Amino acid sequence: MPENFFILSKDHLEIAKDEVIAIAKTYDRFAKSKSFSNLVIIQSNTSWEKIARRATFVKISGQILRKMSGLFLGEENFEVLKNAKTFACRIENLSSKQFNIPELESSMGDMISKLSQAQVNLKNPDIVIYLIFTNQENFFGFSRPQKFADRPKKVRKHPHELDWKLARVMINLIGLKEGETLCDPFCGTGTTLLEAESMGIKAIGLDFDKKMYEISKENMEANEFKSKIIKADFSEFTKMQDKFDGIVTDLPYGTASKVSENPQELIKKFVSMLPRRKKIAIMCKKGFEKKLNMNPSKTYDIFRHKSLTRTILIK
Ligand SMILES: C[S@@+](CC[C@H](N)C(=O)[O-])C[C@H]1O[C@@H](n2cnc3c(N)ncnc32)[C@H](O)[C@@H]1O
Repeated sequence: MPENFFILSKDHLEIAKDEVIAIAKTYDRFAKSKSFSNLVIIQSNTSWEKIARRATFVKISGQILRKMSGLFLGEENFEVLKNAKTFACRIENLSSKQFNIPELESSMGDMISKLSQAQVNLKNPDIVIYLIFTNQENFFGFSRPQKFADRPKKVRKHPHELDWKLARVMINLIGLKEGETLCDPFCGTGTTLLEAESMGIKAIGLDFDKKMYEISKENMEANEFKSKIIKADFSEFTKMQDKFDGIVTDLPYGTASKVSENPQELIKKFVSMLPRRKKIAIMCKKGFEKKLNMNPSKTYDIFRHKSLTRTILIK
C-alpha cells in the first residue's frame, strides 16, 4: 500500500495532524499513520492528492519513495521520473540538525541527472524529489504540482464570522463525505456551508436573525451553491434529522452576534437535542462545555485573544 507524506504548517499542529488522519480514514478506514514533528506519513489506498485537496493545514504533500538508509537513491527509485521532462530536488529539514541545504539539493540534482533523462527545472518542474529529515527517520519522496480549486467567494462578511480554516477542519474531523449533508443550526454568514459545498458536501443552514439569514443566502448564491438556508430558531433542526448526516456549528458567544437567550443556557439546550448517531463538531467559548452532558471523543482549544479561547468538541 502506498505511503504518502504530509508536511503541515505548525499553527494548530495537533488539529492539523488529526485532520489529515481523519480525511485518510474517511476514505479508507484501514489507513495507518505515524508522525514526526510536523510530518505525517499515511499508509492508505487514498492518493495524497485527494487528501491534500481537502486538508486545511498541509504545506507540502507527496508519496514516499522509501525510507532513507544512505544518502543515495538506487536506480529503481527513479521509475517516477520516467515520464518527467523536468525535475527539482528539495530538502525539508524537520530535524534539529544543521545541513547545508543548497549544497545538498544541488548534489542530489547532479546525481539524479546522471540516472535519468529529466532536466533540472527549479521554477516549474514536472516532478519534485524530496529528501525529508526528521530527528527519527529520513525519507525520500516525490510530489507533482497540484491545482487547487478556487476558494469559495464570500461576498458578505460579518465581524463574528468563523475563520474558514476552522470551519473546514471541523468538517474534515468528523469525516463527512462528498454527497452527504451537513447542518449548521447557527449558520451566521454561512462559513461552514461554503466550506462544505466547496468539498462536494451538501448543506442546510439555520439562523434566527433575518440579517444573518440574508447574508448566508447571498454568499451561497454568489457561488451558485444550492445549500438550503432557513430563517428559524436552531431547534428546528430536530424536525429535519433524516435530511442531514452531521452537524458542524459555531455557537453564539454572547458578544458580537445576536443571541436568543443566555449563551450558556442555549448551548445546554442545544446539546440536549443533539441526535445520537450523527457526526458532530461544535465550537463554543472555552468553559461553556464544562456543564454539558456530551462526552466528546476529542476536544481542541483554539486561542483567539486573552479573553477568548474557543473549544472544538468532536463526537
Ligand atoms: C457565532 S455566530 C455564527 C457565525 C458563523 N459560523 C459565521 O461564520 O458567520 C452565531 C450565530 O447564531 C445565531 N443565533 C443566535 N441564537 C440563535 C437561535 N436561537 N437560533 C438560531 N440562530 C441563532 C446568531 O444570529 C449568529 O449568526
